[in-house]
Amino acid sequence: MLDKLTQIEAVASQALAQVQDEAALEQWRIAHLGRSSPLMQVFSSLGALPREKRPAVGQKANEVKKALEAAFAARSEALRQAALQRALSQERLDVTLPGRPIVRGRLHPDTQILRELYQIFREMGFQIYRSREVETDEYNFQLLNFPVGHPARDMQDTYFLQAEGRGDNPLLLRTHTSPGQIHAMREIAALDPDNPPPVRIILPGMVYRYEQVDARHETQFDQLEGLAVGPNITFSDLKGTLADMARRLFGPRARTRFRASFFPFTEPSAEFDIQCFQCGGKGCAVCGGGWLEIGGSGMVHPVVLRNGGYDPARYTGFAFGFGVQRIAMLKYGIPDIRYFWENDLRFLEQF
Ligand code: PHE
Repeated sequence: MLDKLTQIEAVASQALAQVQDEAALEQWRIAHLGRSSPLMQVFSSLGALPREKRPAVGQKANEVKKALEAAFAARSEALRQAALQRALSQERLDVTLPGRPIVRGRLHPDTQILRELYQIFREMGFQIYRSREVETDEYNFQLLNFPVGHPARDMQDTYFLQAEGRGDNPLLLRTHTSPGQIHAMREIAALDPDNPPPVRIILPGMVYRYEQVDARHETQFDQLEGLAVGPNITFSDLKGTLADMARRLFGPRARTRFRASFFPFTEPSAEFDIQCFQCGGKGCAVCGGGWLEIGGSGMVHPVVLRNGGYDPARYTGFAFGFGVQRIAMLKYGIPDIRYFWENDLRFLEQF
């Protein structure tokens, strides 16, 4: 029996030396240390041995079992180390591979144009004045000399937010940035009511209209309003400012044109156009007839000056307001205003 145990150990040790991977190791464990292995059979046959032989055989069997278990543990560890070494050398990280590109966002073309306009007007001495998008009828219309029921309101139909209980002064989404003129003049005049300081501001922001949407009209768009009020401001200041803006935006050859028009809050009033620089004024998909209608302008109406706290006997002023997207369309040759808020990346990624 003792010889048999020596042999069992030798066979198992030899087999273990052949084991090269985890699966083979597990098979080895079942074969040589498992319940039906030769070694375990020795244990279960101990009872059948003559009493005096049992201690020696039992002791030897235990020694063999311990030895095999230790050998198993050592082999298992050796295999693990070998696998680790293999992984370290084969799966080595190649740090010279290019990384994954980081997707960089960019500014919306509308924001880009607005910032360019801020810069141009900053150089001309205009400050930015922000004004609310939800307005009252009073500020959006009445104080700008559109009385209740005045037909000039029809050119700016709008969205009413709350009319009930507010009589002739419903809340609405502003149809233009012009109500900001009143807010700004009142705020600046209040600094010194007897001698209101001069005003030179631009008022950018979103406006809303109940429009028939087409390639040149949207129900919401950005406007840039300008307002200058002071003791000696004339219509030539207005023309000079807008012509200069066009040249700074489109280059020294850019041409502007003024056409007599009507707005209740300016007198005289003019619409101003910039010659399409996509087609050089011949007429194309962007402009239609060679000139792109940019916005309205004029000398601030005496009623409006007074509503803002400025005495029309002492002060004059000019104002203008135009669609920011129209400028972007001219500058980048965008044929349709609806692209701006469609959020199509194929459009946005071009800027
Ligand atoms: N608020 C006018 C509009 O939106 C434009 C304008 C602004 C006209 C300032 C004159 C003076 O149509």
